[in-house]
Amino acid sequence: MPEIKRVGVLGAGLMGSGIAQVSAQAGYDTVVREVSDALHERAVAGIGKQLGKAVDKGKLAAEDRDSTLGRLRGTTSLEELAECDIIIEAVVEDLEIKNEMWRTLDGICGPEAIFASNTSSLTIADMAAATRRPERMVGLHFFNPVPVMKLVEVVKTIATDPEVFETAFEFARSLGKEPIVCKDNSGFVVNLLLVPYMMDAIRAVEQGVASVEDIDKGMRLGTGYPMGPFTLSDFVGLDTLDKIGDIMYNEYKDKRYASPPLLRRMVSLGYQGRKSGKGFYDYAQDPPRVVDFGI
Ligand SMILES: NC(=O)c1ccc[n+]([C@@H]2O[C@H](COP(=O)([O-])OP(=O)(O)OC[C@H]3O[C@@H](n4cnc5c(N)ncnc54)[C@H](O)[C@@H]3O)[C@@H](O)[C@H]2O)c1
Repeated sequence: MPEIKRVGVLGAGLMGSGIAQVSAQAGYDTVVREVSDALHERAVAGIGKQLGKAVDKGKLAAEDRDSTLGRLRGTTSLEELAECDIIIEAVVEDLEIKNEMWRTLDGICGPEAIFASNTSSLTIADMAAATRRPERMVGLHFFNPVPVMKLVEVVKTIATDPEVFETAFEFARSLGKEPIVCKDNSGFVVNLLLVPYMMDAIRAVEQGVASVEDIDKGMRLGTGYPMGPFTLSDFVGLDTLDKIGDIMYNEYKDKRYASPPLLRRMVSLGYQGRKSGKGFYDYAQDPPRVVDFGI
């Protein structure tokens, strides 16, 4: 099995930019692909800012920041991922958009390259089937924010080559992460258990059980969770959560996964959470204030 030296990342949004950062910090030459120059430039600049803050706090040596940024570059061209030993995909949670890219990269990348998806809820087999290398496809599911969260769910399908799986597992460890082994079911381990809880919280507000603030406070103080379900939903991205709900409801036909009407309405009105400045909380205020939906 060839050693991994060069990493390609698809998408430089919330997750892709974090994955690109930890890959470059771990010593890999890393190229991140976005649909526009503005988007990958913003992501790389954001990584530079984050690392700069760590230097200011004395948590990172200036040379390490500089060498990390020296290993990182952005592009809009898929061809520039041709030499990568592993491709980690973190674009919107849409199977057709992901598969269109896997089909293209299948023809561009070397036969040994490993393909890995950071999907939250799609199954890896449905992407492997779009390529001529299903045995070299795995799931590498990181958590938000990637530079902070230790967990990576490493997912194997019924077609994954055991050596490829081992290489991906060790790659996750080489990023300083704690990998776990998961079967290829929608939502893997964490989202299988977490998503119904997040959707139930939204239904509780719809039913007037309690307010957004009190439910968040209740779950934080009552369970020790670092944040409540609404702060978490805003962090994940309400558009992404809505897509995850559709995909998991389709897979399990269990209504606990289905997106509640309130979530649907919010997404159609552009409330995406922290990344759009408004979700269950309004982030233009400091501290963020709960949005009054008058329901
Ligand atoms: N947000 C989370 O907490 C979280 C956690 C784990 C996994 N995920 C998964 O990671 C993936 C990305 O989620 P996100 O939250 O970073 O979303 P995001 O909306 O922040 O970023 C998605 C990025 O993909 C880019 N994109 C779209 N089409 C593209 C293409 N053809 N080529 C390259 N880039 C393209 C968009 O421009 C956008 O910047 C999804 O599959 C999601 O389910 C999300």
